[in-house]
Amino acid sequence: MSNNPSHIAIIMDGNGRWAQAQDKNRTFGHEKGSEVVRTITTYCAKNPEIDRLTLYAFSTENWKRPKLEVEFLMKLLQKYLKQELPTYLEGNIRFQPIGDLSAFSTSLQSTIREVKEATQHCTGLIQSLALNYGGRDEIIRAAVALQAAQTPISFDLISQTLDCDTDVDLLIRTGGDHRLSNFMLWQSAYAELFFTDTLWPEFTTDELEKIIQKFKKVERRFGGLN
Ligand code: IPE
Ligand code: IPE
Ligand code: MG
Repeated sequence: MSNNPSHIAIIMDGNGRWAQAQDKNRTFGHEKGSEVVRTITTYCAKNPEIDRLTLYAFSTENWKRPKLEVEFLMKLLQKYLKQELPTYLEGNIRFQPIGDLSAFSTSLQSTIREVKEATQHCTGLIQSLALNYGGRDEIIRAAVALQAAQTPISFDLISQTLDCDTDVDLLIRTGGDHRLSNFMLWQSAYAELFFTDTLWPEFTTDELEKIIQKFKKVERRFGGLN
């Protein structure tokens, strides 16, 4: 029996270094990176084994970056969502953002909401962009909500209260670093972790497919014995 890559999560890292290696501004790397988001999303949407793709696009810590880079990323996100609506609809892809969206401008929030609503009927891949997302922040927001509800705590209740209620099967990080950087801390408890030196703008569907094939052969034990 092989593993099903039902939920793939990717830490899309290395945009800035890719651009700087060519003496370009870091923003050039983000622009190229957003094209790779479209390519990888479309590829996953065509694979019926993949139900969900969660992409780390902006962390709760990324606000520490220079103001100009943050502003560029916000504009790029808005542009991407507006321009890619046909890609979502043609691919039957449901857009389901995760993260604390309240920190964004009202204009960006409404674009996010519009694409979310316009794709709610789509029954294929669920694509989650993690936006102002942090695993710790997600857990804190869930804890605060549960405290207010005063209901007995259970595994299911915590899962359902988090932004994402689905365990990650396969977690990939591009860009050469071997860390989670506050991504999907609860959902990745039993994820298979794959790290590649490839910088995100150079990540291809071929490399993704190779990782999926390796993932399929892993013996996942979940603490038990096979
Ligand atoms: C990932 O690429 C994209 C975001 C965090 C927004 P980086 O911008 O972190 O690129 P590097 O890691 O500095 O090369
Ligand atoms: C993680 O990358 C966040 C995203 C890919 C959006 P970072 O570049 O922010 O992570 P660190 O700072 O290297 O840990
Ligand atoms: Mg980085």
